[in-house]
Amino acid sequence: MKGVILAGGTGSRLHPLTRITNKHLLPIYDRPMINYAIESLVGAGVDEIMLVTGGTHAGEFLRLLGNGHEFGIERLLYAYQDKAGGIAEALGLAEKFVAQDRCVVLLADNIFERSIKPCVEAFLTKESDPEHLRHLGVAQFDGNRKIERIIEKPADPPSQFAVTGVYFYDETVWKVLPELKPSGRGELEITDVNNWYLDQGLMEYDVLEGFWGDAGESIQAYYSVNDFVRSRAASQEQ
Ligand code: G1P
Repeated sequence: MKGVILAGGTGSRLHPLTRITNKHLLPIYDRPMINYAIESLVGAGVDEIMLVTGGTHAGEFLRLLGNGHEFGIERLLYAYQDKAGGIAEALGLAEKFVAQDRCVVLLADNIFERSIKPCVEAFLTKESDPEHLRHLGVAQFDGNRKIERIIEKPADPPSQFAVTGVYFYDETVWKVLPELKPSGRGELEITDVNNWYLDQGLMEYDVLEGFWGDAGESIQAYYSVNDFVRSRAASQEQ
């Protein structure tokens, strides 16, 4: 299993903080955001990782992570995304690295309390605040708790189950990516990839327990993730 960490984008929802650095280099408590994604993958036993990033601060990732050995990574590769064309476009840069293997894709602004080790196609999380759900991908279920569709940033959320930023794919994903069309926000959406798997009846999901946060969603989300990580660290010190 190979790991792909997506750490690009403009981070516009965190402007002006992200005018001077990449979102994933901002601090979450005592370390840069990207460190948490690495810890999540290494903790799940993934030690061959490609980090996809872009923009003017890409070199800082190399300075921070180097060859990755210090973090328990056996093989760390980097890919550069020329423009912020969306999560699915960024994933396409990892095709030759993953090749015929399976891969776990992780959005580097997602912070998880629990291990992401169980291998399923996607993780959902229960979220009751509709305002929060309107900024995420949300699952719509049929009567048998099977997902019918994932709706990206729904004005009217069809359930309280949001899609987090961790996805597991087999090699068919490389055939799906070239067929995607840009969404309303001009990006190739990971939700369209996941809906393709749904249409084929090939998607499975799991519901994640424990805290989950998307630190790039808004400045409030960024600070609620910081608050969570900081209070967890404080309780572990006691
Ligand atoms: C992305 C996905 C969305 C998912 C979210 C989780 O949103 O498109 O489906 O719920 O990550 O962090 P974005 O951060 O690009 O707005």
